[in-house]
Amino acid sequence: MERLFSNDTLTVKPEGKVDTSNAAEVEKEIFAFVDEYKPAKVIIDAQKLKYISSAGLRVVLKLKKTVDDSIIINASLEVYDILDMTGFTNLIDVKKAFREVSVEGCEMIGKGGHGTVYRLDGDTIVKLYGENEPFDEIEREVSYSKKAFVYGIPTAISYDIVKCGDCYGVVFELINADTLSNAICADSEKLDEYSEKYSALVKTLHEIEADTSIFGNIKHLYNKWIDDLAGTYTPDEIAVLHEVINSIPDSNKFVHGDIHPKNIMLQDGKLLFIDMADLTYGHSIFDYAGIALTHILAKAYTKQLFGVEPDIMEKLFNNMIKANFQGRSEEELEKTKKVIMGYAGIKYAISPAVNKNQDPKFCEGIVNRAREQILPNAKSLIGAIDF
Ligand SMILES: Nc1ncnc2c1ncn2[C@@H]1O[C@H](COP(=O)(O)OP(=O)(O)O)[C@@H](O)[C@H]1O
Ligand SMILES: [Mg+2]
Repeated sequence: MERLFSNDTLTVKPEGKVDTSNAAEVEKEIFAFVDEYKPAKVIIDAQKLKYISSAGLRVVLKLKKTVDDSIIINASLEVYDILDMTGFTNLIDVKKAFREVSVEGCEMIGKGGHGTVYRLDGDTIVKLYGENEPFDEIEREVSYSKKAFVYGIPTAISYDIVKCGDCYGVVFELINADTLSNAICADSEKLDEYSEKYSALVKTLHEIEADTSIFGNIKHLYNKWIDDLAGTYTPDEIAVLHEVINSIPDSNKFVHGDIHPKNIMLQDGKLLFIDMADLTYGHSIFDYAGIALTHILAKAYTKQLFGVEPDIMEKLFNNMIKANFQGRSEEELEKTKKVIMGYAGIKYAISPAVNKNQDPKFCEGIVNRAREQILPNAKSLIGAIDF
């Protein structure tokens, strides 16, 4: 049986029929995975499930008793009917199969680290994720984009989750626009104007309060990433990373988590965020550190990853600090930048836990650099944030 384990969630994909002839076998297989991974949540992806009899339902029941947070997704109408008639839809969360779309003949308009984006029609686009993208992350992106819009964050509205062959996709309103990255490259004369709007957009986001019962606390996320690196850094190094992150003042304002010129669109002269999957709440230092990392520290990769030359990325960053920390003297601004760069280093040190698909050799390089250049001075960041 196909399975995937990510973010404490086990996804299993039973195929064909599950009835008296094979239920015992299916049960054995699923519970072997549960024993192996000890998941906090189990998703039964019923995409390839054609029929389920009472023997199969008993397996579902046992699973639900073992891992309370178990759900069924992608149930065909036939399977959904069986679950509904037997009252199972009251016991366990069941989601029906998704609408099928085809992107054959559709124009590809963009590509990011997670998805490839196609124009579906004049009003909508579909973002198709890779086959290994965990389903709950896709669900999170849809629900966060919807909520972000309602909270007043300038962004595209998301519609529904769809299927396209073996992949999942999310349909979004088409922003009839270009990425900030393309806009900057197309007209360098407007760099200052775009830069000003970019800074203002980021500032606006950091002034909006998030509902802390819906969105995640970015500090918790960082602490989890640090824990994931327990085998990579020494216990002392892990302790320092935790201490530095936990010293950051708390805040309930939004943090985007992945701000760069390819995640911003320019429409009718206004800038909008896209790619809301990483939306959390916390101190704005988390975003500024990410911006410093992508705009300054990742010099060798900015053109390839964000389509913008390193000197322009640096200018965008410097202008943003100047604009968003108005009232500070040159000297104070240098200090602010130094603190932000310090936290960018921390983000860099933790990055092997964030992008788990990176080349191990590349990660080793990051860890060695962090060990030599970042961690020895990391404690000087404690108490240094004055905004
Ligand atoms: N709503 C939209 N309207 C128009 N283009 C979009 C829209 N959403 C995404 N794109 C394009 O697709 C690219 C990748 O989308 P993004 O959501 O950033 O994916 P990823 O999570 O893979 O980074 C963007 O850089 C942009 O060019
Ligand atoms: Mg993106």
